[in-house]
Formats: sequence, C-alpha cells, structure tokens
Amino acid sequence: METKWIKPTEVKIGVDLLKAGEVIAMPTETVYGLAGDATNDVAIRKIFEAKGRPADNPLIVHVASIEQAEHFAQATPPVAKRLMEAFWPGALTIILPSNGRASSLVTAGLDSIGLRMPDHDAALDLIRLSGLGLAAPSANRSGRPSPTSAKHVADDLSGRIAGIMDGGPTGIGVESTVIDCTTEPATILRPGGVTKEAIEVVIGPVNLDANLNDETAAPRSPGMKYTHYAPSAPLYLVDGGREELVRIITERKDAGKQVGALVFDEEPTPADVTLSLGRSMETAAQRLYEALRTFDETDVEEIYVNRIEPTGVALAVYNRLYKAAGGKVIRSQEEA
Ligand code: TXA
Ligand code: MG
Repeated sequence: METKWIKPTEVKIGVDLLKAGEVIAMPTETVYGLAGDATNDVAIRKIFEAKGRPADNPLIVHVASIEQAEHFAQATPPVAKRLMEAFWPGALTIILPSNGRASSLVTAGLDSIGLRMPDHDAALDLIRLSGLGLAAPSANRSGRPSPTSAKHVADDLSGRIAGIMDGGPTGIGVESTVIDCTTEPATILRPGGVTKEAIEVVIGPVNLDANLNDETAAPRSPGMKYTHYAPSAPLYLVDGGREELVRIITERKDAGKQVGALVFDEEPTPADVTLSLGRSMETAAQRLYEALRTFDETDVEEIYVNRIEPTGVALAVYNRLYKAAGGKVIRSQEEA
C-alpha cells in the first residue's frame, strides 16, 4: 500500500480516508497516534495489523469534547468529570465504564474504555470534521519506541497504512497519563504528560498502580504486561550522580566496549556516543524516544544513564527509562 503524506491543512484528505475505514497516523501533543474509526471493526483490525499489536491490548479513543467522551461511556463519575474539565484538551487518558458503542476490538473485550481529548489542532480537526471518535494507539510497530516525529512513523509503518499527517515533532514526547476512574480512589495505570501532583490538586489523593513500583505485580492496564521497548544494546540506570556515571563509562571503555551515554546536561562524557536529554525533565521527555531510536543506529554495546528522582514530569521519564533498562540498576559503591 502506498502511504500518502498529508499536510495538516489537507484535513479533508485525512477525513475521507478515515470515513472510508482506512487508518492514518496523526500528530498529537504527546506522540503520534495511528487513528481509525472507533466504531468500525474493519478499521480497528487494520490498526492492530499494521502495528503487530496483541489483540488483548485495548486502544484509547480520541474525542473532541466532553460530550463526545460521554457518548462512549456508560457513566461519568464526578471525579472523571472534574479531571476532564481541568485537563482536557491534554495528556490525560481517563478510563470509564464502556457502553459498548465503540468496537469491542477497541476495548479488547473489557467493560471499560480509555478516552482522551488531545491538545493538538490537527488531531481535533480530524475528529471534528469526521464526526468520529478516533481509536489511536501510538503509531509505532509494537515493541518500538513511540514516534515523536512523522519520520519515526514512516520508519515503522510506511507501506502499511493509508496516510501520515505530518505535524512536525510532538511537544510533550511521552504518552498520556492513564488514570482509571472505575476505582475508588482513582488509580494511575501509566504515568505520562499530566503529573500525579497536578491530578491530586484537582481530585485529592490517587493510587499508583502497584505494577509501577513492583515488576512482579499483576498488570491492571493490559499494555503494561508487554515487554516495553528496550534498545538493542543493554541499558543500565546508574545511581550516584555524574561522577559515578563517568567512572563506569571509563571502566567499560578500558574493558574494550563501545559505550553509549544518556545525560541530563550538554557536557561530553568519555563514551563513544553521548546523547543529551537536556537540562529539564520537559526536554528529556521530548528527546527520550528519539535518543533510544538513535542508539540502535550506532555500534554501542552498552548504554548508561543516571537514575533520576521520579517525581513530577520525571516520573514518566523514569518509568520509560526503567522499562527500557529492564529494571537494571547499578548502585554506587558507597550505597551498596
Ligand atoms: O499519548 C497517548 O496516550 C498516545 C496518543 C496517540 O494519544 N496513545 C498511546 O496509546 O500511547 P497506546 O495504545 O500506545 O497506549 C494506551 C495504553 C495501553 O497501555 C493500554 O493498555 C491502556 O492505555 N488502556 C487502554 N484502554 C484501557 C482500558 N480500558 N483499561 C486499562 N488500560 C487501558
Ligand atoms: Mg504504545
């Protein structure tokens, strides 16, 4: 299949494809999504097929208003309503009881549904002008990092999907926060663009899914059980700050290894390839997936990154790094 490049100004082309049951990549403020009509089984099957996604991992439905979200939900608890009013459009996916209007393939047979109103004009135009709720997982092949540019989408899905709307690089760079409002209190299943702290200002204390702290706990969000993206070279989280990072890199270089480093400043390191995530956690979120894709194009055999304090936006960055490292942490010698 030839994949058509679509400009954000050519929204009609995208709308016609979506209405015809095709799937296209669309930009959002978090990462690119692979969008299809949430009520059309044929379109949803194309999404799972193009991504190579396991059928038991449900999709988020993207909407352009609170009313449109309620069209897919059996009930909207007051807590969920307050979250929508506070954070939509934005990087927060809200899990509600489903009323069955979305394809059962979207919800993977669950009786709940994930809903989000993206904060991106091109995505909102596609939703509004098509009149459709758009099911859209991240537009990567399953097991690859989420795409933060149209080029990443094309690298993974060119020839497999009808179109790619190129909206430039995404702003936030990590996926939305997923919060389950069918539990009391609500439970964060995946940390993301909206912080736990900001949510708690609006609705009070929420739980963090046990799986986020304990790798052995049973996952409540089906997507969390799949192996997450890991670069082909093993990644290690290093405790003890930059000096410890440099010490380990030097040691591994002396042992003859090609070494990669991810750093939170712009300073060089003794590693063969040093990629900077920038000085703020916002830039780290923006650059993380691109950096992981870049390492795979180099010859590095091992990658090292300092462990960061998992609060605020850094919780989402830490969670993705921890998954990419498969939980491998090198503790500094003083602490060990
Ligand atoms: O920022 C984002 O959320 C991006 C953009 C495109 O909106 N989308 C995205 O979708 O990251 P995806 O499919 O890659 O991740 C959706 C996550 C998965 O972990 C999935 O298991 C979970 O949300 N999820 C979806 N529906 C759910 C439900 N009913 N119950 C529990 N978890 C659900
Ligand atoms: Mg994904």
